[in-house]
Amino acid sequence: MNARHFLSMMDYTPDELLGLIRRGVELKDLRNRGVLFEPLKNRVLGMIFEKSSTRTRLSFEAGMIQLGGQAIFLSHRDTQLGRGEPIADSAKVMSRMLDAVMIRTYAHSNLTEFAANSRVPVINGLSDDLHPCQLLADMQTFLEHRGSIKGKTVAWIGDGNNMCNSYIEAAIQFDFQLRVACPAGYEPNAEFLALAGERVTVVRDPKAAVAGAHLVSTDVWTSMGQEEETARRKKLFAPFQVTRALLDLADKDVLFMHCLPAHRGEEISVDLLDDSRSVAWDQAENRLHAQKALLEFLVAPSCKPA
Ligand code: CP
Ligand code: NVA
Repeated sequence: MNARHFLSMMDYTPDELLGLIRRGVELKDLRNRGVLFEPLKNRVLGMIFEKSSTRTRLSFEAGMIQLGGQAIFLSHRDTQLGRGEPIADSAKVMSRMLDAVMIRTYAHSNLTEFAANSRVPVINGLSDDLHPCQLLADMQTFLEHRGSIKGKTVAWIGDGNNMCNSYIEAAIQFDFQLRVACPAGYEPNAEFLALAGERVTVVRDPKAAVAGAHLVSTDVWTSMGQEEETARRKKLFAPFQVTRALLDLADKDVLFMHCLPAHRGEEISVDLLDDSRSVAWDQAENRLHAQKALLEFLVAPSCKPA
């Protein structure tokens, strides 16, 4: 099985990642100008969802249709995968019928196991460890608003979760400094921190993390699958709410990002998404364009006649 996958930002070279986000900008322009571009005609993406989604499902489904192909939504509840058919068997069967598979799951090992048994590209649509597609959109959004992120300072405020881990990978690949402000015990995965070395620092004080930062990003305090911890997390994370006053400590041209869905009054103040420094809606839209670039990169080469 030698298909190219996208399970992590580390699967690609920095040049490939930069190429993808630049291509995302071009595909956005094509769509805005009403130009039809259908390189994936007759291609089919399978989308396996073990967790809920609005943006990821819509952006992949709309993206495939816009590129001339189709997407099939496969709920875990309705497939044999959800009834215990082994991942390896499912991957072998599905990848004989599909041209690519996107998976949103819990354990990251579900993705690696599927990919190891798949003839076609597998895309990580979020695991407990990583959310790389979101980072393509975030990096495209920064590029559009502020140019290159190389050498800039990014502050991650809140939980050291899947999004935070992907920010660490992005810091390595796009060459920026990352400051993570999180409560003790909620640090990002030690393996990712070790990989990043001095590029990432972990602090307890959100103000220290945000000082002079060019981008501030946060996410929900309770990720999918952690619902039972909600009450405890709300108390513990309260000092980590991102507010307009916190952003005032950052660089004067700071951008604020949130992958969404947002919980106003928890990880962000009720007014933050309305602040002129917030680019959360552009960021959400860019899921579509950045992932179309990814689909084109992964699926289009095999469209060429043999
Ligand atoms: N940001 C994101 O992945 O959103 P969904 O959970 O709606 O897909
Ligand atoms: N950290 C969140 C991201 C949602 C897009 C979660 O995993 O639920």
